[in-house]
Amino acid sequence: MTNGKQPNLRIPGPVPLPDDVLEIVGSQMINHRGPEYADMLDRMTANLRTVFMTTNDAYFITSSGTGAMETALVNTISPGDRVLAISVGVFGDRFREIAEAYSADVTRLDFDLGHAADPGKVREALRKMGDCKAVILTHNESSTGVANPLQELCEAIHEESNALILVDAVSSAGGMAIAVDAWGIDVVATASQKSWIAPPGISMVTFSKKAWAAHERSTTPKYYYDIQQYEDYLKIGQPPFTPCLPAMFAIEKSLEAMVAEGIETVFNRHHEIASHTRDGARSLGLELVPEERYASDTVTAIRLPDGIDGKEFLARVRQDFNVILGGGQKSLTGKIFRIGHMGWVETAHIDEALEAAGRTIRAMRG
Ligand SMILES: Cc1ncc(COP(=O)(O)O)c(C=O)c1O
Repeated sequence: MTNGKQPNLRIPGPVPLPDDVLEIVGSQMINHRGPEYADMLDRMTANLRTVFMTTNDAYFITSSGTGAMETALVNTISPGDRVLAISVGVFGDRFREIAEAYSADVTRLDFDLGHAADPGKVREALRKMGDCKAVILTHNESSTGVANPLQELCEAIHEESNALILVDAVSSAGGMAIAVDAWGIDVVATASQKSWIAPPGISMVTFSKKAWAAHERSTTPKYYYDIQQYEDYLKIGQPPFTPCLPAMFAIEKSLEAMVAEGIETVFNRHHEIASHTRDGARSLGLELVPEERYASDTVTAIRLPDGIDGKEFLARVRQDFNVILGGGQKSLTGKIFRIGHMGWVETAHIDEALEAAGRTIRAMRG
């Protein structure tokens, strides 16, 4: 089930890697300015577009997911541009903070932790703003296990405005469907250590024509994340800067596997394991953080019963069962735990994690 005596790593990324991927990650380096890399980049770019159901440009950047979020913003906005920042948790707040750091004129639209963004409230906010350059939002809020209704939100944004739609899909992409073209998303940001079954180090973005037009006008200072650099180098089959090759090798393999399996099948598989996780949590008498209809397919957030100390719970699950669960963040610290189920995950991984959680709670209740 797990590789050897390795712990059952069930946090929402970095995800555990199966033995064949570990082997690839440990393979010899190549010349990133040579023909081998050019071939690999070409195949990977095509497969990434397939997964995102898009004909838009797609790029690989050596950074964590936050770098991709920064890329989305620095290339499309200018200081003073009006931005609607929708947040349902920690990562929505981070996207807003990046926009603020680059001097956007940010309007906040926050929803209570555990709740999804309401398209009706988004419509209202856009009407009030009048002029809005970009809407920034999280698809899958890893801190609460909430998946926002992205398609509906995109429809609302398109109907009420001409704003760019910039999506943090760091923890959903590759595990949950994102129809970039059909839903009209301008920039999607994701990262290797999530559903892509790869180590941390590479982020990925798509860029629409409208995002490119915004890039032409954007006066935000940029260098490492200037998407023009990635485009210019892509044309010659190279990265602008030395890439995180081990992560690239792993993503190449997982992209190939996803396309061969069929992306619908990959997404359905994530949906099924998520349902299995939620059913298991409920059968232990535990309550989920989000409402069922907004529950994520890649991470499940579960409330700890009153009187159970979250820190001690996580430590006991690790010590007694060799299972690593995610804890709560910010105001949910100590109150919830999270089980990641993206990328390489088998039913047995989840059952072991749930059993460890259930037995630990029973033991702590005495
Ligand atoms: C939804 C979401 N957005 C952004 C990030 C930030 O990604 P990174 O830690 O790779 O910078 C994460 C990481 O967990 C995430 O889950």
